[in-house]
Amino acid sequence: MVIDPRLEDPRNVYKILIGSILPRPIAFVSTISADGIRNLAPFSFFTGISANPPVICFTPMVRSSDGQRKDTLRNIEATREFVVNIVSEQFAQQMNICAGEYPPDVDEFEKSGLTPIPSDLVKPPRVAESRIHYECSLLQIVEVSKEPLGGSLVLGEVLRFHLADDLVDDFRIDPDKLRPIGRMGGAEYARTGDRFSLLRPGK
Ligand SMILES: Cc1cc2nc3c(=O)[nH]c(=O)nc-3n(C[C@H](O)[C@H](O)[C@H](O)COP(=O)(O)O)c2cc1C
Repeated sequence: MVIDPRLEDPRNVYKILIGSILPRPIAFVSTISADGIRNLAPFSFFTGISANPPVICFTPMVRSSDGQRKDTLRNIEATREFVVNIVSEQFAQQMNICAGEYPPDVDEFEKSGLTPIPSDLVKPPRVAESRIHYECSLLQIVEVSKEPLGGSLVLGEVLRFHLADDLVDDFRIDPDKLRPIGRMGGAEYARTGDRFSLLRPGK
C-alpha cells in the first residue's frame, strides 16, 4: 500500500502516524490560563531534543471536532510557562479523564481528582501523583499548520527537574519503580515491564 498524504483524508494520515510511531511517551502538561485557571492535558507527540540545555517538545494539534486550538497551547502562549509530569501506570485512569474536551474554565485537577502541588520556579502546579516533573519555560512555538489535525511544536527549556528520591541511583532512573506507560493507537497503552538489552558497538 502506498499513500500520498496530500491526496488522503487527514484523519487517515493521523491514523497512520499514531499506528506507527509506537509506543509514544506521554507529556502530562499543566498550565495556567491568563485568568489563572489551571489546565492539565496529556500529549503523546512528545520527545526530548537537547540535554545541554535540557529542551523538550510536544505538539498540541488543532481540534478536529471544531477547528479550535487547545487550551494548553493558548495558556502557554499567554504565560510562557508549563510543567511536564511523567505518567505512571498507577494514575493512567485519571490522566485519561484529563483528555476530555472540556471548556477552558474547567480545571482538570478538580475533574480528575489529581493533586496540584506548587512548582518552585513557574506558576503552573505539578501533579503530586507523578514521580517526575519538569518545570519548563517556553523557548519557541513553531506553528506547522492551522488546519484541523495540524499541529504546533512547543519547545520548552527545563528550568528544574523534580525526581522522586527512591527512583534514582547515580542519575539513573529505575523504570520498574517509575512504571511509565506508552500510548499506542486508539485506546491502547503499553506497559514498559518487558525489555531487552543491546550493547552499542564499541561499548
Ligand atoms: C495519552 C494521550 C495522548 C494525547 N496526545 C495528544 C497529542 O500529542 N496532541 C494533541 O493535540 N492531543 C493529544 N491528546 C488529546 C488531548 O489530551 C485532548 O485534546 C485534550 O482535551 C487537550 O486539552 P486542552 O484543550 O485542555 O489543552 C492525547 C490524549 C491522550 C489520552
